[in-house]
Amino acid sequence: MAERPDSWLETVSLAANDSPNKRIVPAAKPIAMSLKSQRITAPQFTAFKAEGRKISMVTAYDYAMARLVDAAGVEGILVGDSMSMVVQGHDSTLPVTLDEMIYHAEMVGRAVEHALVVVDMPFPSFHLGKYKAIENAGRILKESRCQAVKLESGVEQAETIAALVSAGIPVMAHCGLRPQTVNQLGGYRVQREEKQLMSDAKAAEQAGAFAIVLECIPRNIAKRITAELAIPTIGIGAGADCDGQVLVINDLLGLTEGFVPKFVKPYADLKGEIARAVADYRHEVREGKFPDKEHGYG
Ligand code: KIV
Repeated sequence: MAERPDSWLETVSLAANDSPNKRIVPAAKPIAMSLKSQRITAPQFTAFKAEGRKISMVTAYDYAMARLVDAAGVEGILVGDSMSMVVQGHDSTLPVTLDEMIYHAEMVGRAVEHALVVVDMPFPSFHLGKYKAIENAGRILKESRCQAVKLESGVEQAETIAALVSAGIPVMAHCGLRPQTVNQLGGYRVQREEKQLMSDAKAAEQAGAFAIVLECIPRNIAKRITAELAIPTIGIGAGADCDGQVLVINDLLGLTEGFVPKFVKPYADLKGEIARAVADYRHEVREGKFPDKEHGYG
């Protein structure tokens, strides 16, 4: 099991033996303040930056994968709207619905014990006014046991972020390449407008975001944004100077077919492993080698 931060378990001491009226109060046991088990909280996640602790995040979309990546010790798990592409097979993140995000977030929420769990607000669930955004983000938190939402945001979404935060909903912002705006951008491109990117990131921080994803921006711009912000920057295609990194789990495991972005490093070849395992199984079935004695009942 991976190393855990010292601040993993927040405790509140109710001990009051030195109270002025000299009442004898037994020292109380510390109260564990936790969601499911001892998950990292949004404030702890933010504090990792000040502690100089690099943050790892990956996506997960179902119970089995969420358990595996959580056990591997990542600090954050994102139920990303990338699900629209890697799970549902669409060609963008636009089609996935709020109900579908919640359905998958619920599976992930049921699995995770240690990491902070963040859920993407799908398009256009946070563009319908701040009250509707609170209602939609509120559904995510109520129905999925996840702890925070992420929204693709620039200066224009600062008010929405502030409204969500005022409702007690932790918000992770997402600047740089915002895949939900692909039709406006005309494609998935590296974003290089430093002034705009800096304003977007600062607006998110000022609005109360606890962290911010920086997607597909040049390393030197990500470095300057990271230096300017007190909240952690989580990069994807934004270089090594961010406070943390996030990858789509299918990319990390080598499961993605077709185009793989330049910033992806596959740490395994599960596509190859799956092909080999299923071909072996098929061969053994055809040859009458499976099931053998060992894998049946007498
Ligand atoms: O949806 C997603 O997986 C994301 C990450 C790529 C940051 O937003």
